[in-house]
Amino acid sequence: MQKIENIIEQQQKALNSQVLPESELLQTLILIQQELSYIPKNSISTLAEAFNISRADVHGVVTFYDDLKLQDAPSNAKKIIRVCQAEACQSMGVRQLMQELESAYPKDGEISIEKVYCLGNCALAPAAMIDNQCYGNVSISQIKNLLA
Ligand code: FES
Repeated sequence: MQKIENIIEQQQKALNSQVLPESELLQTLILIQQELSYIPKNSISTLAEAFNISRADVHGVVTFYDDLKLQDAPSNAKKIIRVCQAEACQSMGVRQLMQELESAYPKDGEISIEKVYCLGNCALAPAAMIDNQCYGNVSISQIKNLLA
């Protein structure tokens, strides 16, 4: 919690205001996500107080964006594979790919598999993203090679 309080304090100093404007909430959440790799659930009240908004408002913003992870604790995952589930990727066999990925990489392991909806790489479906790098025409063997 100290790291979150430090981030809020830095924002307060930078903006020269004890109560942070709501327009800075997303930037603050991004800073927390970058620092901790997740948004701790128990930080919602602290953030709501710092921005003088309701906990529901903070929760709504955190849960709206797929890249913000609201969790109790950091995950064990060292790598995150984001696999597109949208129409073009569905038509090119992403369901089969997901089954192969889920059997190759069990839950709560070092590889986390997340479903996302369109990576903007539809022409090269199925698409996946590993560590912010997007790949097209992906297969289980290609993903295994990339993670090796
Ligand atoms: S539908 Fe999969 S990248 Fe767009």
